[in-house]
Amino acid sequence: MTYYSGEHLSDRETSTQEFVRSLAKAELHIHLEGSVQPETLREIHPSLTLDEIRANFHYNGFAGFLKTYVWVTKQLHSPEAYALATRRLLESFERQNVSYAEVTLSAGVILWKQEKLEPVIEAIASEARNFPHIRVGWILDAIRQFGAEQAARVFAVARECRMLGVVAIGIGGDEERGPASWFELLYEQARAAGLGLTCHAGEVAGPASVWDALRIGAQRIGHGIRSLEDPNLLSFLRDRDIPLEVCPSSNVCTGAVPSLREHPIRKLWDAGVPVVLGTDDPALFHTDLLHEYTLAADIFGFSREELKQLAANSLLYRFPQRQ
Ligand code: ADE
Ligand code: ZN
Repeated sequence: MTYYSGEHLSDRETSTQEFVRSLAKAELHIHLEGSVQPETLREIHPSLTLDEIRANFHYNGFAGFLKTYVWVTKQLHSPEAYALATRRLLESFERQNVSYAEVTLSAGVILWKQEKLEPVIEAIASEARNFPHIRVGWILDAIRQFGAEQAARVFAVARECRMLGVVAIGIGGDEERGPASWFELLYEQARAAGLGLTCHAGEVAGPASVWDALRIGAQRIGHGIRSLEDPNLLSFLRDRDIPLEVCPSSNVCTGAVPSLREHPIRKLWDAGVPVVLGTDDPALFHTDLLHEYTLAADIFGFSREELKQLAANSLLYRFPQRQ
């Protein structure tokens, strides 16, 4: 796992950081719940100690990570708690010079908690209006393994909340326990309603999972790193201009790839596949967007021109806005 501390950066890294900070860029793959820092959880639950919270932030492997993610989500017990999470996230975007973000809300987990979704969306959208320099679109995510009925409820709310800034729908969670085909009709209906379609796929499961996501109409793929195993899929993504939302630190922390050096981002890029960098769950992966760009430079050899292209991609592949 990579730990990031701004205090120990060498001069070269510092200047890369400054360069990256100066770039106009967007964050397109980030989960609100996964952005909540231990300190913010403590603001929400003063009775929890930071040590207790940090102990809960430890996990092993992808299944362990999903459990931790659900634990964090359970701590967000009110619309106000989600609003505070939003405020802290947008403050971090300000520090990183992120001017646009599409933030995913695990709406399926909110329904699973038997909480109402609309008040949460109203609260986070209202908080985001306090940051006029940052445009925010919301992506409502259903959880694959919870099935199509739960997803239908999530996507119905997404359609109703477009005026609050909901721009797209997605499916996350465990791709091995909820095939994309379950959601085919729902994706078609969401597309017809003008919502963007993204889909976590090819993160831990192989290329067939990415093909399944494309078959139901996904316009972007969350992660998609295992596309590298299928040359036809790489050509398809390149020719149809379908981007992968690639989150290197996430993939190492969840065990999706064994180490940063073995991460396929450079090969995907060299194959001409559109790539957008994201953080996924920055609080759980000890990262932020500046750090992911710095890794692109330092570990994967992205030149300044290529970093500029990555930043340009993040703005190019946004979902259309309605407001
Ligand atoms: N929800 C939050 N982070 C996720 C990830 N990396 N994969 C699937 N679902 C998620
Ligand atoms: Zn994700």
